[in-house]
Amino acid sequence: MAERRLGIIMHGVTGRMGYNQHLVRSILAIRDQGGIALANGDRLVVDPIIVGRDADKIRRLAEKHNIKRWGTDLDMALSNPDDSVFFDAGTTQMRAELLGRAIDAGKHVYCEKPVSDDLDSAIALARKVKAAGIKHGVVQDKLFLPGLLKLKMLRDSGFFGRILSVRGEFGYWVFEGDWQPAQRPSWNYRKADGGGIILDMLCHWRYVLDNLFGEVQAVSCLGATHIPERVDEKGNSYTADADDAAYATFQLAGGVVAHINSSWDVRVRRDDLVTFQVDGTHGSAVAGLHKCFTQHRVNTPKPVWNPDEPSKFNFFEQWEEVPDNWPAQNGFKAQWEMFLRHVAEDAPWPYGLEAGAKGVQLAMAGLQSWEERRWIDVPALGI
Ligand SMILES: NC(=O)c1ccc[n+]([C@@H]2O[C@H](COP(=O)([O-])OP(=O)(O)OC[C@H]3O[C@@H](n4cnc5c(N)ncnc54)[C@H](O)[C@@H]3O)[C@@H](O)[C@H]2O)c1
Repeated sequence: MAERRLGIIMHGVTGRMGYNQHLVRSILAIRDQGGIALANGDRLVVDPIIVGRDADKIRRLAEKHNIKRWGTDLDMALSNPDDSVFFDAGTTQMRAELLGRAIDAGKHVYCEKPVSDDLDSAIALARKVKAAGIKHGVVQDKLFLPGLLKLKMLRDSGFFGRILSVRGEFGYWVFEGDWQPAQRPSWNYRKADGGGIILDMLCHWRYVLDNLFGEVQAVSCLGATHIPERVDEKGNSYTADADDAAYATFQLAGGVVAHINSSWDVRVRRDDLVTFQVDGTHGSAVAGLHKCFTQHRVNTPKPVWNPDEPSKFNFFEQWEEVPDNWPAQNGFKAQWEMFLRHVAEDAPWPYGLEAGAKGVQLAMAGLQSWEERRWIDVPALGI
């Protein structure tokens, strides 16, 4: 059994996602478990170098986590032939340019979504990686959540019969930042900085819908900026001009209708921060991040509309939980392991930059639908 080293240049790891999900819970967790076992019995050992503009921050982070290599010069990092993968979790607006530089340097690339904040750059990137013949990928973390894996199992088992509709509720109250600090970065609420919930969330909904329920064919989206002023990380008020809620309906191949509300201005009274209810002819299910509950046609109660009396049913008790028959993994780590296997031994990998471009395409179609107050078709991209 041989040990194989893989050098990974990581950018954006001082940020919320880059630090928690990608550095600590994925790459360092993979390092600390001794790497990944490859199909031929070799072990793939990860060797990250973390790169950022703030030397002090990056150095402290490296020391805290016993990461031997760190730096502030991305071009220097990209010029090292011993590091073959570039990863980015920086802000959305920087991504296309950074990925372009990494591809030019001959690196395999993996990144957070959205791959870009405009469709032309997203398509150009997908074409560029194809022409360069490198390995590439974009984060599609929701597909790896236990709750959504259970929905996939239900679908594959035929539990639903014919799927009719999907309704998703995503969101929670993001504090305005005045009397309690906001729990999301302020750039999320400024258009000029690449903010907006439509760009952020419709990328996710694209791969969730495409992979689980049918390719998205059309979208009707109403956005809103419910809270027009917020307070940033330094305590300064700013105009929050980006959309902070989106009410979107999707038509899917096969006739499924999906409706997903996404909002940073909603208080949660449901099973989880995101829930998907799927209704089919034979059964229904409601999945959150981890749990999933089902109601089969034979277990479906028969309520009768009567507003004159309080309901005799406790509707939440009429569902049965899908058991945890396999161990839950962090979804980001699971996807990283899949990508690293793809790089190291050409293992199957369906989440390339063309999937990333499809996410951006849906976000742009959602914004156009809102602006023009009409349905927008979502054609194949032909990358
Ligand atoms: N997959 C998911 O569920 C998910 C969730 C949230 C965010 N995201 C995506 O992750 C990305 C980062 O989001 P976040 O919430 O972690 O943001 P964040 O603001 O916490 O982090 C941004 C990172 O970019 C760096 N950065 C910002 N401006 C820079 C500059 N000019 N030069 C160099 N570095 C710079 C910051 O130092 C930080 O490391 C976004 O693209 C976002 O869409 C994905």
